[in-house]
Amino acid sequence: MCLFIKQEGKGNSSVYLGSSTSSVCVLEEKDVAAVPTCPHAASRAQSMDAIPGPTNWPLFGSLIELIRKGGLTRQHEALVDYHKKYGKIFRMKLGSFESVHIGSPCLLEALYRKEGSYPQRLEIKPWKAYRDLRDEAYGLLILEGKDWQRVRSAFQHKLMKPTEVVKLDSKINQVLTDFVARIGKTNVNGRINDLYFELNKWSFETICLVLYDKRFGLLQENVNEEAMNFITAVKTMMSTFGTMMVTPVELHKSLNTKTWKDHTAAWDRIFSTAKVYIDKKLKRGETGAADDLIGDIFRQSRLSKKELYATITELQIGGVETTANSMLWAIFNLSRNPRAQGKLLEEIRRVVPAGQDPCGEHLKSMPYLKACLKESMRLSPSVPFTSRTLDKDTVLGDYALPKGTVLMINSHALGSNEEYFDEGKTFKPERWLRENNTINPFAYVPFGIGKRMCVGRRLAELQLHLAMSWLVRDYEIVATDDEPLDMIHSGLLSPDRELPVAFRKR
Ligand code: HEM
Repeated sequence: MCLFIKQEGKGNSSVYLGSSTSSVCVLEEKDVAAVPTCPHAASRAQSMDAIPGPTNWPLFGSLIELIRKGGLTRQHEALVDYHKKYGKIFRMKLGSFESVHIGSPCLLEALYRKEGSYPQRLEIKPWKAYRDLRDEAYGLLILEGKDWQRVRSAFQHKLMKPTEVVKLDSKINQVLTDFVARIGKTNVNGRINDLYFELNKWSFETICLVLYDKRFGLLQENVNEEAMNFITAVKTMMSTFGTMMVTPVELHKSLNTKTWKDHTAAWDRIFSTAKVYIDKKLKRGETGAADDLIGDIFRQSRLSKKELYATITELQIGGVETTANSMLWAIFNLSRNPRAQGKLLEEIRRVVPAGQDPCGEHLKSMPYLKACLKESMRLSPSVPFTSRTLDKDTVLGDYALPKGTVLMINSHALGSNEEYFDEGKTFKPERWLRENNTINPFAYVPFGIGKRMCVGRRLAELQLHLAMSWLVRDYEIVATDDEPLDMIHSGLLSPDRELPVAFRKR
C-alpha cells in the first residue's frame, strides 16, 4: 500500500510522510545468513545530532532546498543525491517533521535484526480519526501493537503462503481474459489511451473479485454507476488525507473543514459499499471453496466482523494502484528492452502449451519472468520508501537513535545505487539468475522489510507474473519513441507522460 501522501487539490505535489510483514519475511533465511557483516557496526555510537544532512532552516527545515532541487515531485531524486552527498544515513527536516533516511543494505539489515514484535510505521491520523468517529475498527495499515499482530496473523497464512495464494490464479485469469481482449479492442494503431487508468481498472476489478467474489464490469464498454462511485470515493479519500497529515486533523474536525467533510463522506461510501459485498460474500461462502479468501479467514480466525470490514477495505485500498503502477513500469521496461522481451516470450512458449492460458502452475517453471519483474521493480519501484517509527532506543550503524525516531527506508535509492547493482541503470533480468549472484537481499526491498512488509506481496506478484505472461504471449510491446521518460513522485513513482508504448498482436 502506498501511504505516501498526495496533497488535496495540488495534483502531483506529494509529501513523503511515509507509507503504507511477517514471520514469513521478505528475505529468505538463507539470504540473510549469506549477508556479510556490516562494516558500519560502530564501537561507540554518536548521538542523532551528529548525523549529517541538508540545510535545516528554522520553520522550513530542508523544504526550500528540496523545492529548489525540483520540488516534492522530484524528492526521490533529491534523496538519491543526499545519499551520495551525506552517505548511507542522513537526517532531514521538512517543516517540523524530522526523519532519518537509510540507504544502505547493512543498516537495513541491522534494523531488521533489531526489529521488535510489533514494528510501527508513521501514524495515519486522519484514517484513525474517521474510524474513531464512526466506531469502526482499524485495519492492518493503521493497527499497532498486539492488535496489529493478531489481525496480521489471521491474514498471514492465506496471503503470504505461495501455495495458498496460487489458488487465486483462476480469478486473476478471469479478469485477464477481459483485459487482454480490451487491449485488442480499444487500441488505436496499438496505442491505448490512458494506459494507467486501464491498468487501474484491471487491478481494481481483480482485487474485488478476489476479495468479494464480485465483478464490477470495469473492463466493459459502459462502466456501471455503482463501480464509478466506489472508485471516486477511494480517490477522494486518498486525495484528502494528505492535507490532514501535515496539518492537525483535530483542527479540521473541530472546524468541520471541507477536507474533513469530503474525507469522511468518502470513507462512509467506501465502508458502506465494502460491507455490503463482504456480507454477501460471507453469506454465500459457506462452501469452503479453495479460493474463498475472506470466508476462510473469517471462519478460521477470531476476528470480529468490524475488524474484517476494516482490514478487507484496507487491503483493497493498498492493492489497487500499487499493482497497476508496477505493471505500467513492467510494460515500459519490456518495451525498451526487446531482447529481454524476446527471451521472456521464448520462456512463455516453452512452458505454456499451445491452446492453454498461463496459470499458477506454469509460473513455477518461469525463472526469467520472475527475474524480469524483479528487475523492473528494482529500476522503477512503485513505492519509493516506507517508514518505521522506532519503539525503543536503537543503535543503528554509528548512531544511537532515540525511541520515536522516524526512519525512512529508501528502496528507490537502494535499487538505483551502482554500489549494489553493477550497471544499475540497465534493465538486466539476468543479474537475478546468475549462479553465484552476490546481490545483497537488503538492497532490494520494494515491498518493505521484516514483520511488517507488504502483506499483499505474494498476491501482487502472482497478479503481475500472470499479467506479464498473458500480455507478452498475445502482444509485442513496442516502444514508440526512445526519448527519456522521467519519474515523478505523485504518491507513487509514476511516469511523467503517457507511456510511449504500443501493443502489436502476435
Ligand atoms: C506491486 C504491488 C505492491 C507494492 C509495491 C506494495 C508495497 C508495499 C509497501 C512498500 C508496504 C510497506 C511495507 C513496510 O512498511 O515494510 C506495503 C504494506 C502493505 N500493503 Fe502492499 N504493495 C503492493 C501490493 C499490495 C496488495 C495487492 C495488497 C492487498 C492485497 C497490499 C496491501 C498492503 C497492506 C495491508 C500493507 C500493510 C501491512 C502491515 O502493516 O501489516 N499491497 N505495501
